[in-house]
Formats: sequence, structure tokens, C-alpha cells
Amino acid sequence: MILEVNDLSIDFATAQGPLHAVRGVSFTVDEGEVLGIVGESGSGKSVTAHALMRLLPGNGEVTGGDIRYRGESILAYRGDRLRAFRGRSIALIFQEPGRSFDPIYSIGRTMTETLRAHRPEIDDEEARRRSIELLREVHVPYAEERLSNFPHQFSGGLLQRIMIATALASDPEILIADEPTTALDVTIQAQIIELLLELKETRDLSIIFITHNLALISGVADRIMVMYGGLVLEQGSTEEIIHRPRHPYTRALLASILTLGDHHTSKPLHVVGGGVPNPLRPEPGCPFAPRCPLASGECTAGIPPLRHDGTLHRCIVDGVKPEDFYARVSKRSQALSS
Ligand SMILES: Nc1ncnc2c1ncn2[C@@H]1O[C@H](COP(=O)(O)OP(=O)(O)OP(=O)(O)O)[C@@H](O)[C@H]1O
Ligand code: SF4
Ligand SMILES: [Mg+2]
Repeated sequence: MILEVNDLSIDFATAQGPLHAVRGVSFTVDEGEVLGIVGESGSGKSVTAHALMRLLPGNGEVTGGDIRYRGESILAYRGDRLRAFRGRSIALIFQEPGRSFDPIYSIGRTMTETLRAHRPEIDDEEARRRSIELLREVHVPYAEERLSNFPHQFSGGLLQRIMIATALASDPEILIADEPTTALDVTIQAQIIELLLELKETRDLSIIFITHNLALISGVADRIMVMYGGLVLEQGSTEEIIHRPRHPYTRALLASILTLGDHHTSKPLHVVGGGVPNPLRPEPGCPFAPRCPLASGECTAGIPPLRHDGTLHRCIVDGVKPEDFYARVSKRSQALSS
């Protein structure tokens, strides 16, 4: 195991009081493994990713838990130790290419500066040579000629590849890809995913792939973790999560995408009504209770504990068959629309 996150909680100080963005999240990442983190907007995916790099903004604070990288807690790292960790261990591909590239610098300049920041001992010529190698590794055509081009001269797909090449400049062991393909069309998305899977093999990389899209992640991840309201509601192998999900929220997410198996029909998530919880005032119990077709009074008594049965999931109701669950969803949907 390369990374171990234990009971991690993160708050933000806001004018309205503390905002509980991440609440007791635990997971591990093994060498050469792809972990998918999936959830609706605001569920705490990016905040978790930034905490792994020790990149929380000034008003964010880890209020509990631990992050261990190769057995060592990274939360106490400071100064040179922190810089070395950030540079060499985990790299992040941001949601927006704009955060990785300055429009006034050629991509060659951005890449050589990144390389030299990680390895001050190399000279300009060596940094240039390495940049070309990295661009070739991510299959950017005419790598040498294109070093002098500016970000706006590239298509979204190529820019995404250059962003991945830049992230690889530090030879990381873990690559975090935060919604790397959202702005791209489906064919280009598939090509970027193919590239990430290729790099996983050639570099023995571990990848944390963050997305809203359960269908997309099912083709990439070895394991999937489903987040909602800052909590992990379910995690397990991709096979279990896609074909035998236990948690009502995962089932609702699956129902909202096109058929992946016989019992998953294409019902949109809005059939369960409502929106994501307010992190300033979280529900006292299960965060999914206001939208869950199986909710009862018991569900709001406290946050349901995680239970292990096929997957690890946080729901007090057990053993509801998928067909019965979808019948309840349908009934609720009709009630909501009448
Ligand atoms: N700097 C900040 N100050 C206050 N609240 C913040 C800050 N950054 C994030 N949050 C809040 O933390 C919660 C989790 O945000 P996060 O960015 O992790 O969501 P996400 O799951 O990545 O969503 P998306 O899919 O939209 O990217 C949200 O309620 C968000 O508004
Ligand atoms: S604990 Fe209750 S509200 Fe939450 S998912 Fe389970 S049944 Fe639904
Ligand atoms: Mg995000």
C-alpha cells in the first residue's frame, strides 16, 4: 500500500461559520492501482485531493484523521520535507487547464521551469530534452517544434496531454486526475483515458481519478469510492459497485446513467428529487435521507456506520433487492411529479 487515508476531516472557515467539506473519509491506494472517486458537485472530491498534496487554501484545515504516504504521516511535513514530498510523490492534474498554464508562456517554458523546479541540478538544454521526451511519451505530435507554442494554440485534448506530461515531470508515484476530461468531447475523453491507462502500465503509476461520471470511471478504475456530503457512502471493487451496488445513492447514480447491467435502467437522478446537502448545516443523520426512497425516521438519528458486505457502505437498511429499490424510486418519482 502506497497511500493510506484514515478518518480524514476537513473544515473551511467561512463568514457563515465552519463548513464541513470532508467528514471522516478513509481509503487506501495500492501501487499501480486506479482508484475512482465519484460524486455530485460539492461532495468533497477535490478538497480531499488537495489535502493529499497538502494544498488546502488558507481557510481550510484538517480537523481530524491522518494521511500516510509509504507509512509516514504527511500532515506534519514542513519546509524542505514538504517541498520534496510535493515534488516527487504525488502530482495533480487540475480540473481547469488554465490553472496549469500561464497564457503568456510557451508550453516549453512552463515545462522546462517545472522540470528545473523539481531538479535544480539539470541545465536548460537537459530540461528541454526531457520536455521533448515527456511530450512524446504522451503522444503530442511534432513535440520538438511545438515547444515554442502557447497554450491557446493547442486543442483541448492536446493541452490535456501536455498537462499530463508536465505532471509527470517530477516522476510521481501517484497521479491525481481531477475531472481531467469534463471539457472534452467523448472521443477525446476516451483517448485521454487510454493514455492514463497506458501510463499506469509503463510507469507503474497509481492513479486517483475523480469524476461525476460513474459510467466513465467504470472503464478505468480498479476500485470506486462514492462520496456524498463529505462522506464516503460506498466503496468497493469496480465489479461490485457497478454490478452489485448496496447503497441507495450508488444505485440512484447508476440508474441515472445508461444501462450497464440488466437491472440498471436509464432513470435520471432527479427521480429521487432534491439537491446535495448544505455543508454548513449537514443533516444530523444520513446525508442522503432527504432524497432517499427508503428513508425512515431511524436514518436521521445519526450518521450510519460503515458496514462490510460485498462493499463497504453506509446505510442502515440491508437486503433491499435492486428491483424493489427501483420500484420505490419510481413511486417516489411519480409522487414528486404529481
Ligand atoms: N476555499 C473554500 N472555502 C470554503 N468552502 C470551500 C472552499 N473550497 C471548497 N469549499 C467547499 O467544500 C465543499 C467540497 O468542495 P469540493 O471542491 O471538494 O467539491 P467536489 O466534489 O470537487 O465538486 P465538483 O464536482 O463540483 O468539483 C463544497 O461545499 C465547497 O463549496
Ligand atoms: S441510511 Fe436511510 S436514508 Fe440513508 S441511504 Fe440508507 S435507507 Fe437511505
Ligand atoms: Mg472538484
